[in-house]
Amino acid sequence: MRSFFHGKIAVFLTVLSLAFGAISMRAQSPPALNLMPMPAKVQTGSGFLKVDESFRLSFAGYREPRLDRAAQRFLEQLHRQTALVLASRETVDPAKATLLVSTEQESKTVQELGEDESYTLDVTPSGAKLHAANPLGVLRGLQTFLQLVTITPDGFGAPVVSIQDQPRFSWRGLMIDSGRHFMPIAVLERNLDGMEAVKLNVFHWHLSENQGFRVESHKYPKLHELGSDGLYYTQEEIRGLLAYARDRGIRVVPEFDIPGHSTAWFVGHPELASGSGPYQIERKWGVFDPAMDPTSEKTYKFLNEFIGEMAKIFPDAFFHIGGDEVNGKEWDANPGIQSYRKAHGIKDNNALQAYFSQRVQELVVKHGKTPIGWDEILVPGVPKSIVIQSWRGTDSLAAAAKQGYRGILSNGYYVDLGWSAARHYAVDPLGGAAANLTPEEQKLVLGGEACMWSEYVDPENIDSRIWPRTAAIAERLWSPADVRDPASMYARLPLISQRLERVGLNHRAYQRRMIERMAGTASPDELAALQLIVEALEPVKDYNREEIGAEPTSQTPLNRVADAVHPESDISRLFSSKVDDYLASSCKDVAMASELRAKLVQWAGNDVHLRPLAERSFLVKEASPASSALSQAAEVALAALDRITLGVPLSPDLRKQQLDGLNALELQAHKAQVTIPALPAFQKLIEAATAGGACPTSK
Ligand code: ACM
Repeated sequence: MRSFFHGKIAVFLTVLSLAFGAISMRAQSPPALNLMPMPAKVQTGSGFLKVDESFRLSFAGYREPRLDRAAQRFLEQLHRQTALVLASRETVDPAKATLLVSTEQESKTVQELGEDESYTLDVTPSGAKLHAANPLGVLRGLQTFLQLVTITPDGFGAPVVSIQDQPRFSWRGLMIDSGRHFMPIAVLERNLDGMEAVKLNVFHWHLSENQGFRVESHKYPKLHELGSDGLYYTQEEIRGLLAYARDRGIRVVPEFDIPGHSTAWFVGHPELASGSGPYQIERKWGVFDPAMDPTSEKTYKFLNEFIGEMAKIFPDAFFHIGGDEVNGKEWDANPGIQSYRKAHGIKDNNALQAYFSQRVQELVVKHGKTPIGWDEILVPGVPKSIVIQSWRGTDSLAAAAKQGYRGILSNGYYVDLGWSAARHYAVDPLGGAAANLTPEEQKLVLGGEACMWSEYVDPENIDSRIWPRTAAIAERLWSPADVRDPASMYARLPLISQRLERVGLNHRAYQRRMIERMAGTASPDELAALQLIVEALEPVKDYNREEIGAEPTSQTPLNRVADAVHPESDISRLFSSKVDDYLASSCKDVAMASELRAKLVQWAGNDVHLRPLAERSFLVKEASPASSALSQAAEVALAALDRITLGVPLSPDLRKQQLDGLNALELQAHKAQVTIPALPAFQKLIEAATAGGACPTSK
């Protein structure tokens, strides 16, 4: 487990010029520039470029249709942000431009790893200039300009600023698992829009799983016909998505996870499997036994054809072959596989997987692609050209780099685990063991990817599990390493989150719809009470949800309180940081005490308003243990706060009793598969209230 980063409040802007004023920032003050990711170099000035109906966008230098479409999207987005009625087409006269964009030459026909994404953006009161070597930098710079546009007392405007920007890492990805829960194209498109907004450049598309094979294959139609419940992407849809991603400067890396995670392949093609079948689409979650037969030439003949077909559809240079979590049980149980192994001197199942992996990598290379896979594909002797995606940690990433392999980090960026933005933000691809690599070895660390595994997300709530936290990960991957102050990140995240909804994501709006579904015909008071707990709670973290209650499957509706709550409750986070501030004032700040008190009173009194609704809604009833746990826990914290303010200390015995009580309430909340994120703050209040604790105990 990684620990929360307690960095000092760093000044996160590089302020260079004498002609411009320096930005200094205190933890609580609103950020001067709501940029995320923070550019490599920012010089601020004074004043604004007015953004009004007269706004004109113009291009100079190299032109291509993709830039025209980028211009249209830019104007549409600027309209959404300001509601200004803007000229829908750019003016032809660059001299009249409000924002003049220039670029020198085309980017690569197929976007490549490490292509130049740099740009400069200069905003003055009389106009702005964006310059980039190629259209990729233009795309990045247009997003920065959109983020700069803000409301001012005199209308909308962009602050005077001079930016020189380029990414720290060349591989900045988001993986979406379309296998476990199918995600319609529209869901993917809006997430690509979100990626563009925060300068991510790789969409890793996890396309096959035990629970579904999601791509139309003309060569082997039984793969998608029998392996997908009819939920798959046609090749035409895929081509459309690839074009959509290219327009946004995003590479698309397909993943077909083999030899494990492959049950859905075997429904139509049991001959590929190591067991005797028949196979059905898996409905449960976990690691399963079915695995491809690595000893059969039929397997490789099939994969050769299949990879050949897919390699023609997906233009990217990289092709992901998965390789994770093979438990070897089907291999052990198959006498033919065992005797093959012995006959060929393959000492164990790891070596057998290495053999499979090597054969598949040869096929990938034969079809013109570079293989990428999870940690498991790194075995002695594998060619240095492959890329390792580390889900196990920076240690394995560092070990790979030491041996000369390129790698990307995903451990620490699993957004399905429900961690806070700060916890993800503290994870650095060059942190941990990778910090000790030589500069040459560090160059092999290409970047990282947020991973959205989809056991507990569906099209309705997936955005909320990705955003806004992935914006913080995007900053980690784009911005200089010393841009790492969580207070600054949290100060900027709310506006970035709003912006992400304006580009079309649903990560906040979904919650109201889910609350209304749970509520049915609720009174305004009941609805408000339900909203209050949904906003205060979080889903249980890591994989604990699988251990609570009835075994979930892909058929289980995701309509419960655990599905409606955000992975990170803003309200609870703000409450907790206020408790820290209060304790830091030695509990002397009376205004803070009364704010804390008001919140605790609200939480403590909430459950009673929700009870009538629990009688009428099974979904609210299911949330009842959590609702009453929150109210009771807040009651305990309120009593502690009152003791602090009245100077009546808790005895050690009572302290222990109350802390035990809080732990029991947390377990009670788990029954609804949620956690009370403010609980540690409640505990701090109890500790502070105890005789000999942090706060004065008598007045
Ligand atoms: C993985 O999480 N098994 C890649």
